[in-house]
Amino acid sequence: MEKILVTGSSGQIGLELVDALRDKYGEDNVLASDIKENTNDDPYFVMLDILNKQRLIEIVTDHKITQIYHLAAILSAHGEWNPKKTWNVNLNATLHVLNLAKEGLIKKIFFPSTIAVHGPNTPKKQTNQFTDFSPETVYGMSKITGELWCNYYHKNYGVDVRSIRYPGIIGWKNKPQGGTTDYAVEIFYDAVEKGAYECFLGKDTRLPMMYIDDAIRGTLELMEAPAENVKIRTSYNLAAVSFTPDELTALIKERMPSFVMSYKPDQRQQIADGWSQSIDDSEARKDWNWNHKYGVKDIVNVMLDNLSK
Ligand code: NAD
Ligand code: SER
Repeated sequence: MEKILVTGSSGQIGLELVDALRDKYGEDNVLASDIKENTNDDPYFVMLDILNKQRLIEIVTDHKITQIYHLAAILSAHGEWNPKKTWNVNLNATLHVLNLAKEGLIKKIFFPSTIAVHGPNTPKKQTNQFTDFSPETVYGMSKITGELWCNYYHKNYGVDVRSIRYPGIIGWKNKPQGGTTDYAVEIFYDAVEKGAYECFLGKDTRLPMMYIDDAIRGTLELMEAPAENVKIRTSYNLAAVSFTPDELTALIKERMPSFVMSYKPDQRQQIADGWSQSIDDSEARKDWNWNHKYGVKDIVNVMLDNLSK
């Protein structure tokens, strides 16, 4: 019987991943944890600052945890406010988690990486799995270093750690915070609530994105794939759609002709300019049959339909 711990479970992805894991493994077999208070009265939630190594070990031992989905992190835009703390949370805490597996306390780890591992020298279009990695944000630096440690622990200590480089994740259940791709969720909330949105990225900023149901399904598929199929132990490129704010606006206007979009780029523009515009994920498609289901029109429809309710 698997017993799963999710760190950073109160975030945009964690809240939905916990539900999906509980559907699969049973409610009491998935323990949610975060540094933020849980507001959902979840009986299977524990407070955990991932930097508190002793508390992490206690939780893993007391609850007989076998797998950790290690989501806790500080994202790209907030990461620039406090680089040292971001490095500590994003990288040093990941090493604590990897060590638990090295010491035989847990069997499997999921580590989410990101398109932020790319940098200004990375080819922008259909960015290959194996490419230039010279990120210029502390978030990207911590994630690419985390990927390399994952690979090291796999090769040298046999740790079963699996990872995906998520693009910007879009979902209607939770608002993201602290990221550079957040506009692609905020735009839908503001379209429904105010009929207008002021975008912090310029109109032609193309970025790779994915609907959250695809991201969660892909995560579970990777974690359940036979170990011999998981050939990449740094992190898999994963792609779905790619669009600019201007293109997204045009699609929203098809449903809401009165929607008004305006642009006021801020410091997040520079971060976005360093990232890829589209991703080649053929390795994931080949190794464990990854396939996305939601195109950009599907995303617009599912976001507007659900938020309008
Ligand atoms: P999020 O910011 O919504 O959630 C992260 C959670 O981590 C928050 O609830 C926060 O309270 C928690 N956290 C921060 N510091 C912590 C600490 N010291 N101890 C314990 N918890 C702490 O982020 P998300 O969008 O849900 O992302 C989850 C993971 O996926 C992250 O590792 C992120 O890098 C990765 N990712 C997300 C996206 C995306 O678009 N959402 C894209 C690429 C990668
Ligand atoms: N959505 C994330 C961010 O913008 C990408 O990792 O920081």
